[in-house]
Parts: sequence; structure tokens; C-alpha cells
Amino acid sequence: MLTITDLVKVYPTGARALNGVSFTVDEPKVVAIIGPSGAGKSTLLRCINRLVEPTSGHIELDGTDIVALSRRGLRKARRRMGMIFQEYNLVERLTVMENLLSGRLGYVGFWRAFRRKFPPGDVSAAFDLLDRVGLTGYHNTRADALSGGERQRVGIARALMQRPELLLVDEPTASLDPKTSRQIMRLLVELAREHNTPALVNIHDVALAQTFADRIIGLADGRIVFDGLPGEMNPDVLTRIYGEEDWSTTIRKVEEEDENGDDTVDEAGKEKAAAKKKPGEEKGFIREASAG
Ligand SMILES: Nc1ncnc2c1ncn2[C@@H]1O[C@H](COP(=O)(O)OP(=O)(O)O)[C@@H](O)[C@H]1O
Ligand SMILES: [Mg+2]
Repeated sequence: MLTITDLVKVYPTGARALNGVSFTVDEPKVVAIIGPSGAGKSTLLRCINRLVEPTSGHIELDGTDIVALSRRGLRKARRRMGMIFQEYNLVERLTVMENLLSGRLGYVGFWRAFRRKFPPGDVSAAFDLLDRVGLTGYHNTRADALSGGERQRVGIARALMQRPELLLVDEPTASLDPKTSRQIMRLLVELAREHNTPALVNIHDVALAQTFADRIIGLADGRIVFDGLPGEMNPDVLTRIYGEEDWSTTIRKVEEEDENGDDTVDEAGKEKAAAKKKPGEEKGFIREASAG
């Protein structure tokens, strides 16, 4: 699926953000990339969709050499990757539905999208995804009226609208409270599994990574210093990744959280969404879309 070989990124400032990173993702699993601030996590994700130009190395996604692509080829390849951001990157003054459909912009063409004539199939897929992320009834709500957790639900649904072959997720919960963070991570992992889509998730929270990821890659100073299973994390590994500290409390925290794991939160989220649903709001967007 994804093979990265000897990836190096040196920024014009001289910062060596990636120092020869190699790994393969050959199963549709959730891979957490952990590491301290400045380790190169964001640079790595951004090289994969070439928001950042790699200095050297190879990136292959399902047979496509990403680094060699022309502008046009790159546009096509980017549609195969869904990106989810810490700050959500929603268009604030557009509705939830408009934000979701913008995930299909690459497919429908600029003018068609501009006039909001989205294919009915896209509109119904968007409604299905909204239900799935627990935002039933929010389609006409403007993005700027949403809470952080709701925004990230829209961010996840928007990325999935592309039907991506790979999800690139950069610190999805860094702006959220601990409980919402767990709900969002749980949702992300469930959806990646349901869609059989591998996900690379940058996350600085070790406990979250351990609880939700299938595999953990530890980055330090632009190099991979750990690549293994969540259960293989221990104080030595954390020292390799983050440096010398007393990590025993961090590891214990993970075990405690697992025992008290709260599995009812997604249902609660859905109920809350359903409660907020206002009758009469329903068809607003569709009418606009078909009149477009
Ligand atoms: N646009 C940039 N220009 C110059 N240096 C950068 C840029 N972006 C990141 N860096 C540097 O590259 C290194 C890795 O940064 P980053 O990939 O953002 O790490 P992380 O996401 O793990 O915090 C850091 O030293 C950072 O200062
Ligand atoms: Mg980062």
C-alpha cells in the first residue's frame, strides 16, 4: 500500500526534519506516529501528499511513485489521500454539508462545484457519513457554530467523502479535551476499519496512541527509533523517543484507562446530535443544490 524509503527533508533554513525514514504499511491498519514536538511528524505526513517537497527518498502509494509526479499527476494522487488536521480546516462560513461536499471538489470540477451542483450520489453519501459521525441533523449548521469535537467529526467525514486509499491525520485531538479526544480517536479508528483504509495518525499523546492504534512508530530527530505494537511500549522505548524521564506513571496510566474504558460515549454523542436536530432544516441544502 504505502512504502517510504530513505525519506529526507532538509528545509531551506537548514533544519533536517527527516533523516532517512523508511517504513511500509501493507495492511489497512491504524499506525500512530508519536514523538516530541519537532521530531518531524508533520513533515512526514506532508511529504506523503507533497504539501512539503521531500529533499530525497521514495514514497510509493499503491504503485504510484509520489515523489516523481508532475503537477497534474499530483492533483490526481492527492485525491487518493484524505487529510485530517488538528485545526479542522473547515470553511467557517459554509454549512456542514457544504464542507463535506468540498471533499469531492476534486472530482466534480470547479464550475460545477462553484454552482453547487453536486451529483445526488455525493449528497446522499454525505448524509450517510454525517449520520455515521454522529451529526445527524447538522447539515445546515454553519461550521463556525460547531464545538471542537463536532468540527473534527466534520473533518473526518469530509476526508472520507474522497473515498481515500490512505488517511493522513495530523494531531486530530490536540485541540480537544481528554474525553472528546478519546471519542474522536475511537470514531476515527472505527471508520478506518469500516472503510478498510490505512491511516497514519500523528499524535503526541502516548496513552491515546497506545489505546487506539494497531501499530506505533516512534520518531525522534527525524529518525524512526521504534516501530512495533502498542503492547511493546515500555519506559525504555519512551526514553528512546522522548528522552530521559520517569515514564513508569505514563505506562500505568494507559493500563488504568483501558480498565475504565468508556464505550458509551459515541452513543451519547449521537443522542446529543439527534436532540439538536431541528425539523424543517432538512431540505435546505438539497434544494439549493438541485437549483444551483
Ligand atoms: N516550514 C518550515 N521551515 C523550516 N523548518 C521547519 C518547517 N516546518 C518544520 N520545520 C522544522 O522541522 C522540524 C520538524 O518539524 P515538524 O515536522 O513540524 O515536527 P512535529 O510535527 O513532530 O512537531 C523542526 O525542527 C521544525 O522546526
Ligand atoms: Mg506537528
